Amino acid sequence: MATRRLGIVMYGVTGRMGLNQHLVRSILAIREQGGVTLPNGDRVMPDPILVGRNAEKVAALARQYGIERHTADLDAALQNPNDEVFFDAATTQMRADLLTRAIATGKHVYCEKPVADQVDKAIAVAKLAKAKKVKNGVVQDKLFLPGLRKIRMLRDAGFFGRMFAVRGEFGYWVFEGDWGQPAQRPSWNYRKADGGGIILDMLCHWRYVLDNLFGKVQAVSCLGATHIPKRVDENGKPYDADADDAAYATFQLEGGVIAHINSSWDVRVRRDDLVTFQVDGTHGSAVAGLSKCWTQHRVNTPRPVWNPDIPQTMNFFSQWEEVPDNIVYENGFKIQWEDFIRHVVADTPWHHGLVEGVKGVQLAELGLKSWAERRWLDVPEIKI
Ligand SMILES: NC(=O)c1ccc[n+]([C@@H]2O[C@H](COP(=O)([O-])OP(=O)(O)OC[C@H]3O[C@@H](n4cnc5c(N)ncnc54)[C@H](O)[C@@H]3O)[C@@H](O)[C@H]2O)c1
Repeated sequence: MATRRLGIVMYGVTGRMGLNQHLVRSILAIREQGGVTLPNGDRVMPDPILVGRNAEKVAALARQYGIERHTADLDAALQNPNDEVFFDAATTQMRADLLTRAIATGKHVYCEKPVADQVDKAIAVAKLAKAKKVKNGVVQDKLFLPGLRKIRMLRDAGFFGRMFAVRGEFGYWVFEGDWGQPAQRPSWNYRKADGGGIILDMLCHWRYVLDNLFGKVQAVSCLGATHIPKRVDENGKPYDADADDAAYATFQLEGGVIAHINSSWDVRVRRDDLVTFQVDGTHGSAVAGLSKCWTQHRVNTPRPVWNPDIPQTMNFFSQWEEVPDNIVYENGFKIQWEDFIRHVVADTPWHHGLVEGVKGVQLAELGLKSWAERRWLDVPEIKI
């Protein structure tokens, strides 16, 4: 069996996502396991070149992880025909421009979400990728979470009967940074001018989660908020946090399912996980966190009776049964990278093209518009 090399220009790898999920847990993990296996048994070994503005920073990173190639010269890296793929995990605002430059040089492209900060730009990039016939993809990591994979299994097994409602709770407390606890997210997330805002950040995730698991999104009503208007940045400097940091959104889905998802960086957690989805159907309900999933079938449904005069006797959490881990769930970012590499090299099927990313930006933009205009908005079909 042959092993071939695949050169990948990696941009934004000094950031949280680029470093942890894409470089370390995906590309380096794939190299460590001996590459990606193709359907014909051959293997592909990714060969990254780390690219960043700060030459010293990328050099140090490359040294730390034993990677030979690094540069601060993106244009030169894009001109190298021996590197076929460009990957971007830098900030949202730069993405459309970076993808455009990479596609123009004939690179296949893969990137973090959102694929752009505006839907027009996202459409232009997806059109260019189509015209240039390059393979393309966007990260849709939540689909690979064990909790949501278990929900998909329950759905496919007919567990829910007729599914009619989805309740999502996403969020945790992100420290303001001004009283001894540094913030645990980058400050650009909270500045409009830098591409921040939870609606742009999270509605693109909710688009592919809803579309793929519960029904195509047909309409949205969204109320955003900026609950914490002042924060302190990475350098201890106070700044105006003018972007939305919470979003309360309702979605109508094809097939009649109603989904409501709260997304917030200003919420203290009292639930099973940092994100949970409760799915209700005629025959059963399920609640999924990032990894675990609990079910309650119609025959196991207790009979609560409303009586405010006596303290609650039921322990509602104990009335659910956990779905067992019958398979090994690998890191979702790595699974998606492996799929993309197979798609690039062996043309295997791929469901996460830039067009799917465009739909995410579209929903985020409609969410912002719905909030600004205080009304429901239909979600038109995207044609590329
Ligand atoms: N899939 C997910 O669950 C998920 C989670 C978080 C973030 N993201 C996405 O990943 C991307 C990065 O987010 P992050 O949280 O890692 O941010 P981050 O701030 O930690 O990293 C940003 C990266 O961009 C680089 N960068 C910033 N400004 C730059 C500039 N002017 N020129 C060149 N490079 C610049 C930084 O050096 C760094 O490498 C965003 O698009 C975000 O939406 C995805």
